[in-house]
Amino acid sequence: MEITRTLGRSGIEVSALGFGCWAIGGEWQDADGQPLGWGKVDDEESVRAVHRALDLGITFFDTADTYGAGHSERVLGRALGKRRDDVIVATKWGNVFDEETRTRTGVDDTPAHARRALTASLDRLGTDHVDLYQLHLNDLDPERAAELRDLCEEFVREGLIRAYAWSTDDPARAAVFAQGEHCTAVQHALNVLQDTPEMLSLCEELGLASINRSPLAMGLLAGKRQGPKDTGDIRSKPPAWLQGFGDGTSADPEWLSRIDALREILTSEGRTLAQGALAWLWARSPRTVPIPGFRSVAQAEQNAGAMEKGPLTAGQLTEVDSLLER
Ligand SMILES: NC(=O)c1ccc[n+]([C@@H]2O[C@H](COP(=O)([O-])OP(=O)(O)OC[C@H]3O[C@@H](n4cnc5c(N)ncnc54)[C@H](OP(=O)(O)O)[C@@H]3O)[C@@H](O)[C@H]2O)c1
Repeated sequence: MEITRTLGRSGIEVSALGFGCWAIGGEWQDADGQPLGWGKVDDEESVRAVHRALDLGITFFDTADTYGAGHSERVLGRALGKRRDDVIVATKWGNVFDEETRTRTGVDDTPAHARRALTASLDRLGTDHVDLYQLHLNDLDPERAAELRDLCEEFVREGLIRAYAWSTDDPARAAVFAQGEHCTAVQHALNVLQDTPEMLSLCEELGLASINRSPLAMGLLAGKRQGPKDTGDIRSKPPAWLQGFGDGTSADPEWLSRIDALREILTSEGRTLAQGALAWLWARSPRTVPIPGFRSVAQAEQNAGAMEKGPLTAGQLTEVDSLLER
Protein backbone atom coordinates (compact mmCIF):
# COMPACT_ATOMS: atom_id res chain seq x y z
CA MET A 1 0.00 0.00 0.00
CA GLU A 2 0.94 3.67 -0.15
CA ILE A 3 2.75 3.99 3.12
CA THR A 4 1.98 7.68 3.46
CA ARG A 5 -1.24 9.65 3.72
CA THR A 6 -1.92 13.37 3.48
CA LEU A 7 -2.99 14.98 6.73
CA GLY A 8 -6.26 16.48 5.57
CA ARG A 9 -6.19 19.71 3.60
CA SER A 10 -2.83 20.86 5.01
CA GLY A 11 -0.86 18.92 2.42
CA ILE A 12 1.36 17.64 5.26
CA GLU A 13 2.48 14.10 4.48
CA VAL A 14 2.58 11.51 7.28
CA SER A 15 3.18 7.77 7.45
CA ALA A 16 -0.18 6.02 7.09
CA LEU A 17 0.33 4.88 10.68
CA GLY A 18 1.06 7.25 13.54
CA PHE A 19 2.35 6.24 16.96
CA GLY A 20 0.26 7.20 20.00
CA CYS A 21 2.36 8.26 22.99
CA TRP A 22 -0.12 8.08 25.88
CA ALA A 23 1.22 4.83 27.40
CA ILE A 24 4.86 5.95 27.27
CA GLY A 25 4.00 8.84 29.61
CA GLY A 26 3.98 6.28 32.44
CA GLU A 27 1.96 6.63 35.62
CA TRP A 28 -0.12 9.72 36.47
CA GLN A 29 -3.46 10.24 38.12
CA ASP A 30 -6.45 12.47 38.66
CA ALA A 31 -6.75 14.55 41.85
CA ASP A 32 -9.06 11.85 43.32
CA GLY A 33 -6.47 9.11 42.74
CA GLN A 34 -8.06 7.65 39.58
CA PRO A 35 -5.18 6.29 37.45
CA LEU A 36 -4.92 8.08 34.10
CA GLY A 37 -1.84 6.37 32.70
CA TRP A 38 -1.12 2.84 31.54
CA GLY A 39 0.92 1.85 34.56
CA LYS A 40 4.68 1.57 34.81
CA VAL A 41 6.81 1.92 31.71
CA ASP A 42 10.53 1.70 31.07
CA ASP A 43 11.66 4.99 29.50
CA GLU A 44 14.69 3.38 27.88
CA GLU A 45 12.45 0.82 26.16
CA SER A 46 10.12 3.65 25.06
CA VAL A 47 13.08 5.46 23.48
CA ARG A 48 14.22 2.25 21.74
CA ALA A 49 10.65 1.73 20.46
CA VAL A 50 10.52 5.26 19.00
CA HIS A 51 13.90 4.68 17.30
CA ARG A 52 12.67 1.38 15.85
CA ALA A 53 9.51 3.12 14.61
CA LEU A 54 11.62 5.77 12.85
CA ASP A 55 13.72 3.06 11.21
CA LEU A 56 10.53 1.36 9.99
CA GLY A 57 9.24 4.50 8.29
CA ILE A 58 6.96 6.00 10.95
CA THR A 59 6.91 9.79 10.62
CA PHE A 60 3.90 10.73 12.77
CA PHE A 61 3.77 10.82 16.58
CA ASP A 62 0.78 11.87 18.69
CA THR A 63 1.20 12.94 22.30
CA ALA A 64 -0.41 15.39 24.77
CA ASP A 65 1.01 17.71 27.38
CA THR A 66 -0.95 15.88 30.07
CA TYR A 67 0.23 12.29 29.28
CA GLY A 68 2.34 11.35 32.28
CA ALA A 69 1.98 15.03 33.34
CA GLY A 70 4.55 16.19 30.77
CA HIS A 71 6.59 12.99 30.78
CA SER A 72 5.43 11.64 27.40
CA GLU A 73 6.47 14.87 25.66
CA ARG A 74 9.86 14.75 27.37
CA VAL A 75 10.50 11.12 26.42
CA LEU A 76 9.36 11.71 22.83
CA GLY A 77 11.49 14.85 22.51
CA ARG A 78 14.53 12.98 23.84
CA ALA A 79 13.93 9.99 21.55
CA LEU A 80 13.51 12.13 18.42
CA GLY A 81 16.59 14.24 19.16
CA LYS A 82 18.24 15.34 15.90
CA ARG A 83 15.60 13.51 13.87
CA ARG A 84 12.88 15.91 15.04
CA ASP A 85 12.62 17.60 11.64
CA ASP A 86 12.13 14.27 9.87
CA VAL A 87 8.77 13.75 11.58
CA ILE A 88 5.38 15.33 12.23
CA VAL A 89 4.69 15.90 15.92
CA ALA A 90 1.16 16.33 17.24
CA THR A 91 0.42 17.31 20.82
CA LYS A 92 -2.61 18.58 22.76
CA TRP A 93 -3.60 21.15 25.33
CA GLY A 94 -6.54 21.91 27.64
CA ASN A 95 -5.72 19.97 30.83
CA VAL A 96 -3.85 21.37 33.79
CA PHE A 97 -1.44 19.18 35.74
CA ASP A 98 1.35 19.15 38.28
CA GLU A 99 4.56 17.68 36.86
CA GLU A 100 6.04 17.06 40.32
CA THR A 101 3.18 14.94 41.67
CA ARG A 102 2.14 13.67 38.21
CA THR A 103 -1.43 14.71 38.93
CA ARG A 104 -4.04 16.21 36.63
CA THR A 105 -5.56 19.07 38.58
CA GLY A 106 -8.25 20.31 36.20
CA VAL A 107 -8.92 21.87 32.81
CA ASP A 108 -8.38 25.39 31.48
CA ASP A 109 -10.10 26.55 28.30
CA THR A 110 -8.78 30.12 28.30
CA PRO A 111 -6.65 31.58 25.50
CA ALA A 112 -4.03 32.63 28.07
CA HIS A 113 -3.64 29.02 29.16
CA ALA A 114 -3.40 27.81 25.54
CA ARG A 115 -0.43 30.12 24.96
CA ARG A 116 1.25 29.06 28.21
CA ALA A 117 0.61 25.39 27.43
CA LEU A 118 2.09 25.71 23.93
CA THR A 119 5.26 27.34 25.25
CA ALA A 120 5.63 24.57 27.85
CA SER A 121 5.07 21.82 25.25
CA LEU A 122 7.70 23.31 22.93
CA ASP A 123 10.13 23.31 25.81
CA ARG A 124 9.46 19.69 26.84
CA LEU A 125 9.56 18.47 23.25
CA GLY A 126 12.75 20.44 22.58
CA THR A 127 11.42 22.04 19.39
CA ASP A 128 10.46 25.47 18.07
CA HIS A 129 7.14 24.41 16.54
CA VAL A 130 4.37 21.84 16.85
CA ASP A 131 3.16 20.43 13.53
CA LEU A 132 -0.38 19.66 14.68
CA TYR A 133 -1.79 21.28 17.83
CA GLN A 134 -4.95 19.66 19.18
CA LEU A 135 -7.61 20.84 21.60
CA HIS A 136 -7.92 18.04 24.17
CA LEU A 137 -11.33 18.98 25.64
CA ASN A 138 -13.77 16.60 23.92
CA ASP A 139 -17.02 18.32 25.01
CA LEU A 140 -16.00 21.96 25.26
CA ASP A 141 -18.67 24.55 24.52
CA PRO A 142 -18.39 25.28 20.76
CA GLU A 143 -18.42 29.07 21.24
CA ARG A 144 -15.50 28.82 23.62
CA ALA A 145 -13.74 26.52 21.15
CA ALA A 146 -14.27 29.02 18.30
CA GLU A 147 -12.19 31.52 20.28
CA LEU A 148 -9.42 28.94 20.66
CA ARG A 149 -9.67 28.09 16.95
CA ASP A 150 -9.01 31.74 16.11
CA LEU A 151 -6.09 31.76 18.53
CA CYS A 152 -4.66 28.72 16.70
CA GLU A 153 -4.72 30.78 13.50
CA GLU A 154 -2.58 33.33 15.36
CA PHE A 155 -0.18 30.54 16.43
CA VAL A 156 0.10 29.55 12.75
CA ARG A 157 0.92 33.14 11.75
CA GLU A 158 3.56 33.28 14.49
CA GLY A 159 5.16 30.07 13.19
CA LEU A 160 4.55 28.22 16.47
CA ILE A 161 2.31 25.56 14.91
CA ARG A 162 1.68 24.42 11.32
CA ALA A 163 -1.91 23.16 11.64
CA TYR A 164 -4.45 22.29 14.31
CA ALA A 165 -7.34 19.96 15.16
CA TRP A 166 -9.91 19.20 17.83
CA SER A 167 -9.85 15.87 19.62
CA THR A 168 -13.60 15.34 19.85
CA ASP A 169 -16.12 12.61 19.09
CA ASP A 170 -18.82 15.11 18.11
CA PRO A 171 -19.05 15.90 14.37
CA ALA A 172 -20.82 19.23 15.07
CA ARG A 173 -17.89 20.36 17.22
CA ALA A 174 -15.38 19.16 14.62
CA ALA A 175 -17.23 21.27 12.03
CA VAL A 176 -16.88 24.39 14.19
CA PHE A 177 -13.12 23.97 14.33
CA ALA A 178 -12.97 23.18 10.62
CA GLN A 179 -14.10 26.74 9.87
CA GLY A 180 -10.51 27.77 10.55
CA GLU A 181 -8.28 27.75 7.48
CA HIS A 182 -5.47 25.72 9.07
CA CYS A 183 -7.67 23.20 10.86
CA THR A 184 -6.80 20.00 9.05
CA ALA A 185 -8.03 17.05 11.11
CA VAL A 186 -10.24 15.70 13.83
CA GLN A 187 -8.97 13.16 16.32
CA HIS A 188 -11.69 10.73 17.38
CA ALA A 189 -12.26 7.19 18.61
CA LEU A 190 -12.58 4.73 15.75
CA ASN A 191 -11.93 1.02 15.52
CA VAL A 192 -13.50 -2.00 13.85
CA LEU A 193 -15.88 -2.43 16.81
CA GLN A 194 -16.86 1.24 17.02
CA ASP A 195 -17.62 2.69 13.60
CA THR A 196 -18.36 6.42 13.17
CA PRO A 197 -20.01 6.95 9.75
CA GLU A 198 -21.13 10.50 10.57
CA MET A 199 -17.63 11.68 11.50
CA LEU A 200 -16.10 10.05 8.44
CA SER A 201 -18.67 11.72 6.16
CA LEU A 202 -17.78 15.07 7.72
CA CYS A 203 -14.06 14.43 7.09
CA GLU A 204 -14.86 13.61 3.48
CA GLU A 205 -17.02 16.72 3.05
CA LEU A 206 -14.56 19.15 4.67
CA GLY A 207 -11.28 17.58 3.61
CA LEU A 208 -10.18 16.72 7.15
CA ALA A 209 -7.95 13.84 8.19
CA SER A 210 -9.56 11.36 10.59
CA ILE A 211 -6.92 10.62 13.22
CA ASN A 212 -8.00 7.44 14.97
CA ARG A 213 -7.42 7.05 18.66
CA SER A 214 -8.01 3.72 20.43
CA PRO A 215 -7.62 1.89 17.09
CA LEU A 216 -6.87 -1.32 19.02
CA ALA A 217 -9.73 -0.79 21.50
CA MET A 218 -7.08 -0.06 24.14
CA GLY A 219 -5.45 -3.47 23.65
CA LEU A 220 -8.54 -5.71 23.22
CA LEU A 221 -8.01 -5.78 19.46
CA ALA A 222 -4.39 -6.76 20.06
CA GLY A 223 -5.51 -9.89 21.92
CA LYS A 224 -5.86 -8.68 25.51
CA ARG A 225 -8.65 -10.58 27.34
CA GLN A 226 -7.98 -9.70 30.99
CA GLY A 227 -7.74 -6.39 32.79
CA PRO A 228 -4.16 -5.34 33.65
CA LYS A 229 -2.57 -6.39 36.96
CA ASP A 230 -0.86 -3.01 37.38
CA THR A 231 -3.19 -0.88 39.54
CA GLY A 232 -1.62 2.24 38.03
CA ASP A 233 -3.16 1.28 34.68
CA ILE A 234 -6.38 3.13 33.82
CA ARG A 235 -7.82 -0.09 32.41
CA SER A 236 -7.71 -1.68 35.91
CA LYS A 237 -10.22 0.90 37.16
CA PRO A 238 -12.07 2.03 34.02
CA PRO A 239 -13.79 5.43 34.21
CA ALA A 240 -17.32 5.63 32.72
CA TRP A 241 -16.07 6.66 29.25
CA LEU A 242 -13.67 3.73 28.94
CA GLN A 243 -15.58 0.85 27.41
CA GLY A 244 -14.68 -2.79 26.89
CA PHE A 245 -12.82 -3.56 30.12
CA GLY A 246 -15.85 -4.34 32.32
CA ASP A 247 -15.00 -3.74 35.97
CA GLY A 248 -11.27 -3.80 35.17
CA THR A 249 -10.60 -7.47 35.95
CA SER A 250 -11.61 -8.96 32.63
CA ALA A 251 -12.73 -7.72 29.26
CA ASP A 252 -16.41 -7.27 28.51
CA PRO A 253 -17.68 -10.69 27.20
CA GLU A 254 -19.78 -9.00 24.54
CA TRP A 255 -16.72 -7.20 23.13
CA LEU A 256 -14.74 -10.45 23.21
CA SER A 257 -17.42 -12.34 21.30
CA ARG A 258 -17.44 -9.68 18.57
CA ILE A 259 -13.65 -9.87 18.36
CA ASP A 260 -13.84 -13.66 18.11
CA ALA A 261 -16.36 -13.34 15.29
CA LEU A 262 -13.90 -11.15 13.35
CA ARG A 263 -10.71 -13.05 14.16
CA GLU A 264 -10.54 -15.09 10.97
CA ILE A 265 -11.05 -12.16 8.65
CA LEU A 266 -8.73 -9.80 10.55
CA THR A 267 -5.94 -12.37 10.63
CA SER A 268 -6.16 -13.08 6.88
CA GLU A 269 -2.97 -12.85 4.74
CA GLY A 270 -0.83 -13.67 7.78
CA ARG A 271 -1.79 -10.55 9.72
CA THR A 272 -1.80 -10.51 13.51
CA LEU A 273 -5.09 -9.45 15.09
CA ALA A 274 -3.69 -5.95 15.78
CA GLN A 275 -2.49 -5.63 12.17
CA GLY A 276 -5.95 -6.68 10.97
CA ALA A 277 -7.60 -4.02 13.13
CA LEU A 278 -5.33 -1.38 11.54
CA ALA A 279 -6.00 -2.82 8.06
CA TRP A 280 -9.74 -2.32 8.65
CA LEU A 281 -9.16 1.38 9.47
CA TRP A 282 -7.19 2.02 6.28
CA ALA A 283 -9.88 0.28 4.24
CA ARG A 284 -12.66 2.23 5.94
CA SER A 285 -11.61 5.58 4.43
CA PRO A 286 -8.64 7.09 2.57
CA ARG A 287 -8.66 9.87 5.20
CA THR A 288 -7.91 7.73 8.26
CA VAL A 289 -4.59 7.75 10.10
CA PRO A 290 -4.65 5.28 13.01
CA ILE A 291 -2.38 6.06 15.98
CA PRO A 292 -2.03 2.87 18.05
CA GLY A 293 -0.33 3.14 21.43
CA PHE A 294 2.88 1.22 22.14
CA ARG A 295 5.28 0.60 24.98
CA SER A 296 7.89 -1.78 23.57
CA VAL A 297 10.06 -2.44 20.55
CA ALA A 298 8.04 -5.61 19.86
CA GLN A 299 4.76 -3.67 19.70
CA ALA A 300 6.39 -0.98 17.55
CA GLU A 301 7.59 -3.61 15.07
CA GLN A 302 4.29 -5.42 14.89
CA ASN A 303 2.23 -2.27 14.43
CA ALA A 304 4.57 -0.70 11.86
CA GLY A 305 4.57 -4.08 10.07
CA ALA A 306 0.86 -3.60 9.35
CA MET A 307 1.78 -1.02 6.69
CA GLU A 308 3.45 -3.68 4.53
CA LYS A 309 0.27 -5.74 4.47
CA GLY A 310 -2.00 -2.80 3.64
CA PRO A 311 -5.78 -2.38 3.98
CA LEU A 312 -8.49 -5.05 3.97
CA THR A 313 -10.35 -5.42 0.67
CA ALA A 314 -13.75 -3.83 0.00
CA GLY A 315 -15.27 -7.32 0.14
CA GLN A 316 -13.75 -7.97 3.57
CA LEU A 317 -15.08 -4.63 4.79
CA THR A 318 -18.61 -5.68 3.80
CA GLU A 319 -18.10 -9.06 5.44
CA VAL A 320 -17.04 -7.37 8.72
CA ASP A 321 -20.27 -5.35 8.69
CA SER A 322 -22.36 -8.42 8.10
CA LEU A 323 -20.56 -10.41 10.82
CA LEU A 324 -21.28 -7.55 13.24
CA GLU A 325 -24.83 -7.17 11.89
CA ARG A 326 -24.49 -3.48 11.08
N1 LIG B 1 -8.69 12.25 24.09
C1 LIG B 1 -7.71 11.96 23.29
O1 LIG B 1 -7.28 12.81 22.54
C2 LIG B 1 -7.12 10.58 23.26
C3 LIG B 1 -7.72 9.55 24.01
C4 LIG B 1 -7.19 8.27 23.91
C5 LIG B 1 -6.08 8.04 23.12
N2 LIG B 1 -5.50 9.06 22.41
C6 LIG B 1 -4.32 8.82 21.55
O2 LIG B 1 -4.51 7.63 20.81
C7 LIG B 1 -3.43 6.73 21.06
C8 LIG B 1 -3.90 5.30 20.94
O3 LIG B 1 -5.09 5.03 21.64
P1 LIG B 1 -5.12 4.23 22.99
O4 LIG B 1 -3.83 4.42 23.70
O5 LIG B 1 -6.39 4.58 23.64
O6 LIG B 1 -5.26 2.71 22.65
P2 LIG B 1 -4.96 1.67 21.49
O7 LIG B 1 -4.02 2.20 20.51
O8 LIG B 1 -6.27 1.18 21.04
O9 LIG B 1 -4.25 0.52 22.34
C9 LIG B 1 -2.92 0.67 22.69
C10 LIG B 1 -2.45 -0.41 23.66
O10 LIG B 1 -2.60 -1.69 23.11
C11 LIG B 1 -1.48 -2.50 23.43
N3 LIG B 1 -0.78 -2.81 22.18
C12 LIG B 1 -0.39 -1.97 21.20
N4 LIG B 1 0.20 -2.61 20.18
C13 LIG B 1 0.16 -3.90 20.52
C14 LIG B 1 0.61 -5.08 19.88
N5 LIG B 1 1.17 -5.03 18.68
N6 LIG B 1 0.43 -6.27 20.51
C15 LIG B 1 -0.16 -6.33 21.72
N7 LIG B 1 -0.60 -5.24 22.39
C16 LIG B 1 -0.43 -4.04 21.78
C17 LIG B 1 -0.60 -1.67 24.36
O11 LIG B 1 -1.02 -1.88 25.71
P3 LIG B 1 -0.36 -3.03 26.64
O12 LIG B 1 1.10 -2.99 26.41
O13 LIG B 1 -0.72 -2.72 28.01
O14 LIG B 1 -0.99 -4.30 26.20
C18 LIG B 1 -0.97 -0.28 23.92
O15 LIG B 1 -0.70 0.72 24.87
C19 LIG B 1 -2.91 7.14 22.43
O16 LIG B 1 -1.60 6.71 22.67
C20 LIG B 1 -3.02 8.64 22.32
O17 LIG B 1 -1.93 9.14 21.56
C21 LIG B 1 -6.03 10.31 22.47
